[in-house]
Amino acid sequence: MFTTRAAKVEDIKAITDIYNEAVLTTDATFDLEPKTEEEQRAWLTSHDQMHPVLVVELNGAVIGWASLSDWSSRYAYAATAEISLYIKEEFRGKGAGRKLLEDIMREGERVGLHTVLARITTGNAVSIHLHESLGFGHVGIMREVGEKFGRRLDVLLMQRIYSTRE
Ligand SMILES: CC(C)(COP(=O)(O)OP(=O)(O)OC[C@H]1O[C@@H](n2cnc3c(N)ncnc32)[C@H](O)[C@@H]1OP(=O)(O)O)[C@@H](O)C(=O)NCCC(=O)NCCS
Repeated sequence: MFTTRAAKVEDIKAITDIYNEAVLTTDATFDLEPKTEEEQRAWLTSHDQMHPVLVVELNGAVIGWASLSDWSSRYAYAATAEISLYIKEEFRGKGAGRKLLEDIMREGERVGLHTVLARITTGNAVSIHLHESLGFGHVGIMREVGEKFGRRLDVLLMQRIYSTRE
């Protein structure tokens, strides 16, 4: 059914198309303008070993992607990443997002991250549910930090810590 693997430069067109669909039709991302493939290529190649990017495929076609990106360039944050994930609209609600989230969280643990943050628009019940079910807790709500499609938007900050050991 759904399979995941590390993203490659050859996936840039699919990654860009999937992201731009979300930019134009959802408030899940606060980008307002589509990205170019060049911008997305630079984004992908900025991810090092500690910051995995996965794609999810169905019958060999890329239908979604997820990343664990640098939260901050300040070095004390080195083991903290921020998650992003997007599934192509026609394939949502069929389990691909859960598979992708499970696999990228496993990958984050394998590469040695300590904690993963998620910023989720408060109306995104599906994403909040998925993150809760994968062990993310609620940190708090940032009120009216975005504005898209004529509405001010609140953002829920969620967090999962892999291990509480020192
Ligand atoms: C959010 C997103 C990645 C989830 O991927 P998906 O493939 O649609 O999700 P899945 O089908 O794997 O899982 C959906 C889950 O939400 C649940 N769900 C569906 N409608 C729901 C609702 N209204 N409220 C709460 N949970 C809901 C489903 O039951 C399922 O949970 P389960 O596995 O426990 O049964 C995808 O919908 C997407 O790309 N959305 C637009 C971009 C986005 O929101 N990205 C996340 C930014 S934080």
